[in-house]
Amino acid sequence: MVPNGTGDQIMSPPDASPAATRAQAANAVRLRDAARTYSVGAVEVPALRGISIDIPYHRFSMVIGASGSGKSTLLNLIGCIDAPTRGTVEVCGEAIGALDDDGLADFRARNIGFIFQTFSLVPVLSAYENVEYPLVLVGTPESERRRRTMAVLDAVGLGAHAHRRPNELSGGQRQRVAIARALVKAPQIVLADEPTANLDSETGAAIIELMHRVQAESHTTFVFATHDPQLMSQADEIFVIRDGTIVERRHGRSNA
Ligand SMILES: Nc1ncnc2c1ncn2[C@@H]1O[C@H](COP(=O)(O)OP(=O)(O)OP(=O)(O)O)[C@@H](O)[C@H]1O
Ligand SMILES: [Mg+2]
Repeated sequence: MVPNGTGDQIMSPPDASPAATRAQAANAVRLRDAARTYSVGAVEVPALRGISIDIPYHRFSMVIGASGSGKSTLLNLIGCIDAPTRGTVEVCGEAIGALDDDGLADFRARNIGFIFQTFSLVPVLSAYENVEYPLVLVGTPESERRRRTMAVLDAVGLGAHAHRRPNELSGGQRQRVAIARALVKAPQIVLADEPTANLDSETGAAIIELMHRVQAESHTTFVFATHDPQLMSQADEIFVIRDGTIVERRHGRSNA
C-alpha cells in the first residue's frame, strides 16, 4: 500500500459541531467504576468489573490483555455502543447515561469513529459508500463528501477500489475501508479494535502513520485495543486489562 503523501489537509473536521465548539472537558474519556455484566441465560458474565480511567485529549492510548479480558467491551462503552450496568461513562464531557437514544445517536455521529474488530461494513454498499456514510449522517454537503471520501480512501491505498463491495475485497482491504470510514469525519475520538490485525507490517506502519497525521491535524484521541507490538510501540499510555479489571497503567512515548 502507498500512503497518500500529498500533505493536503484532508482530515480537518468538516464543520464545527455543537459538541466540538463546547468548552472542552479536561479529559476525552472519563470512566468511574464502570462495570458491564452480560446475562447468558441464567448465568451472569462479568465482562468489566468496575473500571475507573481518564484519557486526556490528543492521546494514543492502548488497551492490551488476553482474549476475553474485556477489551472490546470497554471500547463499546467508550464508543457509546453499549451502556454500563454500573458506574458512569463520560466522553468529551458528555455524561452518556443522561442522553436518550436520539441524543446518543447524534453524539456518536458527531464525535466518534469506531473501527470494529469485525469491520461491520455494509455489504450492499461499495467501499466509497461505506466510507461516505458517516458524512451523510452529519449532513455534510455532497461535494465536500466526495472530496473527503476520496481523500481518505486514497490515504489508505484504496482509491482505485472505491467502487468495490466488501465481498470483492481482501480481509486487509476491508479493514482499511473500516479505518477510512472511522477517520473520514475527523472525529474527536477514534476507537479502534485490533485495527492492524489483518495488515502486513508495511501496510500496518502506513496506517499508523496516517493515524498520527489525523491526530496532528485534528487533535483526535485514539483508543486502541491491540495485540500488535508495532502499534503498541506508538502508545502514549497502555492500560493492561485482566478479567475485566485494569491491573496496570504503563507510560509510553510521551511519558504522559
Ligand atoms: N454479547 C455477549 N454476551 C455474553 N458474553 C459476552 C458478550 N460479549 C462478550 N462477552 C464475554 O465478555 C468477556 C469479555 O469479552 P470481550 O469481547 O470484551 O473480550 P476481548 O478482550 O475483546 O477479547 P478478544 O481479544 O478475543 O477480542 C468474555 O468472557 C466474553 O465471553
Ligand atoms: Mg475483542
